[in-house]
Amino acid sequence: MFGTFTGNTTNMHTNIDVFVHQGSKGFEGCDYFINEEPAKADFLSELKKGFLETPKVISPKFFYDELGMQLFGKITETPEYYVTRVELELLENLGNELSELVGKNKVVIEYGCGSSRKIATLLRTLNSPSEYLAIDISPDALKETTGTIASAFPNVRVGGLCADFYSSSFVLPREVGGSKDSRLVFFPGSTIGNQEPREAQKFLENIHNVLGVGGNLLIGVDLRKSKDLLEAAYNDQMGYTADFNLNLISRMKNELEIDISRDAFNHLAFYNEEKSRIEMHLVASVDQEFEIDGTKFTILKDEAIHTENSYKYTSEDFETIAVNSGFKLEKCWSDPDDLFSIQYLKAV
Ligand code: AVI
Repeated sequence: MFGTFTGNTTNMHTNIDVFVHQGSKGFEGCDYFINEEPAKADFLSELKKGFLETPKVISPKFFYDELGMQLFGKITETPEYYVTRVELELLENLGNELSELVGKNKVVIEYGCGSSRKIATLLRTLNSPSEYLAIDISPDALKETTGTIASAFPNVRVGGLCADFYSSSFVLPREVGGSKDSRLVFFPGSTIGNQEPREAQKFLENIHNVLGVGGNLLIGVDLRKSKDLLEAAYNDQMGYTADFNLNLISRMKNELEIDISRDAFNHLAFYNEEKSRIEMHLVASVDQEFEIDGTKFTILKDEAIHTENSYKYTSEDFETIAVNSGFKLEKCWSDPDDLFSIQYLKAV
């Protein structure tokens, strides 16, 4: 299914495919690949449920179809979206300080493989990392990242795990090497900011359980800053963020055949200072009526559909969440303008 494999084993997970290589590498350079691909989220039923709420909501997980991924890539290259650029610059400058703190022969486990530039920078910085495990729900994303990393780092054992790491029952497969305290989870991009703080704490608790005491987490966290800078980042001049948001309406129309018009919505992103979060919405410019799966819905002119939150933390606020979920902050790096932080935590 994913290429030619020399071995085929089962592990503690049930009903999954596990491919382990003896000697030569297989699936896009992987030494082992485990497929626990979750059922695709049901856009129709989740949409209907979200439209029955007040205000109406669409989960941000539906941003990421093929076009959405491309648009997100373009957002990360805009001058206004400092997040990716500053995180990469920080990673590139961590150098000796990080490698000394983290130590030798680490097993690096990446939650979500977006940009291979970040993980390649981290692996280059660390002192002889022994293994890299990429985890993602998309086999295509895994294929691309593991292929790139396996060819760039021939001495690193490379694994791929297609699974939902947000699930509370998520555990590491037994194929992962190293002892508990040699494991480092890498969760860049401030993706943690897309969860409510309470959910973020639960999620960190899950990572703590997955790692066990002694394991480490290196996480990118976007920082609270001026409203102007934040609002510019989510309203880029090229309009990629607007297209990314409006793509949800295109998906409703094209995939679910809902009689709704993209032209009848506008992108809205603003900083909610009180909640310390960017909010994204789709605002109707005219009254509209349509059906979703046999149920009639009305959207009135100026009504907003809430599509995303992106929380911005102070280092202290994030440390509180980390400590409450069982981690100790070992080190926090930020850029001179305090736009973004990378935090190194230990499970205690
Ligand atoms: C993926 N996530 C961290 C991005 C963010 O900044 O919250 C998603 C995004 N939404 C609009 N622009 C980028």
